[in-house]
Amino acid sequence: MQPNQYKVHSRITPAQVRDHLFLPREFFVESAKERFSRLDEDYLARKATEERFPLEGNTRLAKAIVPHLPSDAKSRTLEIFDIGAAGGALTTLCLLKEFREAGISDVRITLVDLSLEALKATKEWRFSLPIGLLEREYGWSKDFVEFAKGIISAATLVQADFRNLSGAFPSKADICSSGFTLHHMNLLDKLFATASMTQITRRGGIVGIVDECLSYTDYIEWIKRHEGEINSRGEHVPIAVESFIHLQDQLKLLDSSVMPLTSGAEKEFHFFVARKEKSDTFSDLHPTPDKWTRPTIKPLDGEGLAELLDLVPLG
Ligand SMILES: C[S@@+](CC[C@H](N)C(=O)[O-])C[C@H]1O[C@@H](n2cnc3c(N)ncnc32)[C@H](O)[C@@H]1O
Repeated sequence: MQPNQYKVHSRITPAQVRDHLFLPREFFVESAKERFSRLDEDYLARKATEERFPLEGNTRLAKAIVPHLPSDAKSRTLEIFDIGAAGGALTTLCLLKEFREAGISDVRITLVDLSLEALKATKEWRFSLPIGLLEREYGWSKDFVEFAKGIISAATLVQADFRNLSGAFPSKADICSSGFTLHHMNLLDKLFATASMTQITRRGGIVGIVDECLSYTDYIEWIKRHEGEINSRGEHVPIAVESFIHLQDQLKLLDSSVMPLTSGAEKEFHFFVARKEKSDTFSDLHPTPDKWTRPTIKPLDGEGLAELLDLVPLG
């Protein structure tokens, strides 16, 4: 998609956005692919130093999952799928850290993302980590980082779209996690993506999601700080279009095959953990639009949308 095509979409008014419950999907997919394919090796380091909430959120998610792990988790290999894992697989790293502390280190990891470039960089550990800071503030010892490096280097990479994952995997997940990725989708696609995660999780397995829920006012400030971003190769790193909903609306997107177990929210993120209780039914596998046109699900901070739409186009 050429940058000027964004301009066409940016003529949508805030009222239309509310009526249609978000922008066209290619707006999100193309801008996410472009942004995350150009990530730099200091991406994780910046997350740990400048913008702490992804590290905080992924840590909260991992801690929330541990009490709900299958009872035989210590005696077999756990299959973990991390959806939207590029940029150093922060979600997986946080899971590994908490699982290891709980005595679980026999895991098999599958990293899934739209961007193959960013997946490869992750597997080859081409992201720097501020080990000193992580050790001091999050208890990530050098020994843990070496362990994590070994696990990530053996990970299976799958380039796939979150919204349609079934068929891409030979087995099902014991833990299917996703960190800070759902906000890269419009509302309908958030529904498909959430259903997609439950489909690739085995019965009794865990689905865990943490996602950003900035107000649009804060998101606009973030855009203003990042719009001139250049990577180490001198390339412009474009902004990705993002959309945020409340935790209670995110929980409404869960299909009937899963049972929510625990959840929480902070200023910048919310998370939940759910257990897959039943096998998928036909309607779970094929959610219909009438499931998502609920009048109670609204973009966060609708007022900020007018300004956001002025800031887009991104090119
Ligand atoms: C903000 S990063 C999150 C990385 C990591 N999970 C974390 O918590 O820091 C979002 C990731 O989601 C990926 N992504 C966005 N939309 C996607 C989609 N439709 N399907 C698969 N991956 C997607 C992006 O390429 C990017 O790697």
